[in-house]
Amino acid sequence: MRDWNASSHAPIVIVEGKGAVLKAEDGREYLDGNSSIWTNLHGHRRPEIDQAIRDQLDRIAHSSFLGLTNDVAARLAGELIDLSGLDGYKVFFSDDGSTAMEAALKMVYQARMQRGEKTRTTFISLSSGYHGDTIGAMSAGHSALFHHVYRPLLFATREVMSPACYRCPHNRAEPVRGSDARVTRKCQWECLGELTRTLDDLGDAASAFVLEPRVQGAAGMTMHPLGYLEKAAAICRERNVWLVLDEVMTGFGRTGTMFAYQHENVTPDLIALAKGLTGGYLPVAVTLASAEIFEAFLGDYAELKTFFHGHSYTGNALGCAAALANLKIFATEQTLQKNVALQRVLAQGAAKFWDHPHVGDVRQEGLICAIEIVRDFKTRESFPFAERIGHRICEAARQHGLLTRPVGDVLVLMPPYCCTEAQITQMTEALWLALNDVIPA
Ligand SMILES: Cc1ncc(COP(=O)(O)O)c(C=O)c1O
Repeated sequence: MRDWNASSHAPIVIVEGKGAVLKAEDGREYLDGNSSIWTNLHGHRRPEIDQAIRDQLDRIAHSSFLGLTNDVAARLAGELIDLSGLDGYKVFFSDDGSTAMEAALKMVYQARMQRGEKTRTTFISLSSGYHGDTIGAMSAGHSALFHHVYRPLLFATREVMSPACYRCPHNRAEPVRGSDARVTRKCQWECLGELTRTLDDLGDAASAFVLEPRVQGAAGMTMHPLGYLEKAAAICRERNVWLVLDEVMTGFGRTGTMFAYQHENVTPDLIALAKGLTGGYLPVAVTLASAEIFEAFLGDYAELKTFFHGHSYTGNALGCAAALANLKIFATEQTLQKNVALQRVLAQGAAKFWDHPHVGDVRQEGLICAIEIVRDFKTRESFPFAERIGHRICEAARQHGLLTRPVGDVLVLMPPYCCTEAQITQMTEALWLALNDVIPA
C-alpha cells in the first residue's frame, strides 16, 4: 500500500473497453493481456452480451433465489449440465470463485456427515494451490505467500506435492532450452506415489481431493503432465475419496476444451466455475454436484439436512442472462475450434522467449502462456523476491501497450478469445520488449 500511495505512482484509470483493448482516462490504449484477470472471454462491450443484459434489465434485474428460482438461472443450469456432460448433476449458484469453492467444501463435509461417514473430514490438496480468499478456500490452499498470515485461523488440510515438472525435486532431467519440462521429465510419477501414500495413511479420514485440473493458476501457471489427473482420479475413486475440481480459472475453453477435466478420462464429483462464466461481465459462480452428493441432502424437514448456504444475490438474473449470452457465442462462433489458430500464434510468439538467458521455462496450455524468469537457467534459481522482477517487467510492458499481471516471476499471457492474430503477436512482442527493458539479454 505504501507503493500504491507513493506520489510517484499514478494508477491507470480504465474508463472504456472494446474487444481486447482497454482505454485509460488519459486516452492511452492497452491490450488486455490477462483478460481482466482471467475473466473476459469474447471481448469487452460484446454486443450480444450487452444486449442480453439490456433485455434482462427490461424484465427484472434481480429477485431472491431463496425458496424461489428464475427462468434465466434455470436455463443456465441446464446448459451447464449439457456442456459438462455430467448427467444428473445439480447446480448450486453463488457469486464468485472463492464462494463456489467454499460451497463445494461445505457440501463435501455435510454430505459426509449426513451419509454417516463421520470420520471422513480431511481434505487433501496440492502444494502451492490457490482456491480463493475466504477461510475455507484458503484452508484448501497451500500458498506460502497468500496464506501464511492466516494459517492459525484455517482448518487443517493435507498437502500433497503438485505435479509441477519444471520445479519437481524428482525430475532428474536437466533443463533444455525450447523444451517443456513436462515432456522431457525423467521421473516415476512420485507425485502420484505421494498421493497414494497420503490417502492410504488417512484411510477413512479422507473426504475429498481438491485441485485445479491441468493448470494451477495462482501457483505460478503450473502445468501438469497429461495423465496426472486421470491417474489421481483413479487413486481417489479406488479409495472412495471424492474429486473436487476448481475450474474457476481453467473453465470455459481456457485450456482448449470447454472444461479442463475433459482433456482426460475423469468424472469429478464437484466442480467450481466462476470467472469466465459470464464472459467477464458480472459475478456469477456455480458449483456442480453429483447426484450422490445431492442425495445426501434429501430428508424430512425435521432432519435438518438442508444445505445452509445462500447469498443475497444468488442466481442474479442479469448475471445469468450475461452467462447465457456468453455460452451462446461459443456455439455460434465455434469458439473452441476458432481458438486453435490463436493458440498456434501465441505459441509462435512465445517461442522466441527461449532465446533470453533469463527465461527458464515457457509453457502453454490452450490460451494460457507462462514465461518463467530465473536468475540461472541451469539451476533454475529464482531472482530474490525483493527484486520484483516479474512485477517490473509487467510495469514496463505498459509502455509497450500491454496490461498483464505476473504470478511472482512468472509472466502470464491469457488473451481474450476475441483477439485477432495480430493482437496476440502484439502481446508477445510487447512482453518481449518489456523483458529486455528490465533484463537486457
Ligand atoms: C483457481 C481459482 N480458484 C478460485 C479463485 C477465486 O475466485 P474469485 O476471485 O472469483 O473469488 C481464483 C481466483 O483467481 C482462482 O484462480
